[in-house]
Amino acid sequence: NKEYILAPSVLSADFSALGDALQFIEQKGGDWVHIDVMDGHFVPNLTFGPPVIAALRKRTSLPFDVHLMTSNPAEHFDSYIEAGADYLTFHIEAEIHAHRLISRIHEAGRKAGISLVPSTPVSSLKELLPLVDLILVMTVDPGFGGQSLIPSCLEKVRELKKLKQENDFSYIVSVDGGVNSRTLDSALSAGSDVIVTGSAFFSGNFPV
Ligand code: DX5
Ligand code: ZN
Repeated sequence: NKEYILAPSVLSADFSALGDALQFIEQKGGDWVHIDVMDGHFVPNLTFGPPVIAALRKRTSLPFDVHLMTSNPAEHFDSYIEAGADYLTFHIEAEIHAHRLISRIHEAGRKAGISLVPSTPVSSLKELLPLVDLILVMTVDPGFGGQSLIPSCLEKVRELKKLKQENDFSYIVSVDGGVNSRTLDSALSAGSDVIVTGSAFFSGNFPV
């Protein structure tokens, strides 16, 4: 009976057996499926796009937590919605017109998330805090699984939880990058509501 939402990332699954990975996530008590979309431009790596996500959608009823690490997210966001994203998160560093994109995600009836890389401060999200459903705090530079959590990034989680309480905002906070059995407690004590885990989860180094 854990008090956080567990969102395993299929980035660390065997890509030739993604259907099995979904079953594994269900068996191990995953609450959401975290899907890392990389475009080889915003981040130096490529993963999967809408057709793969649509195929996975037929294999589980768990919510899809789609994390767009892409340039120009507004150009393609609708195909991720059609593919079955429940939460659609994009990066503040990639989109100037964030209000518009958040509204369009909401108009499509989905939850809107905003993410920030380790070098971006919480203050860059100030205008968006009342609008978003989820804030995904990256605790590694995005692009690859299996990196080490940058501890100072957890201060942002604390800050966001404090701002939420003071202003009665409704977003939840997710931590993504380097969470494993050793770092989980620090992410939870910072106040994180959602825990994303890739390499630790799929290598059995996660306490579930
Ligand atoms: C990193 C991705 C993460 C990644 C986390 O660019 O956004 O979601 O899958 O992997 P681990 O848990 O291995 O750091
Ligand atoms: Zn991610």
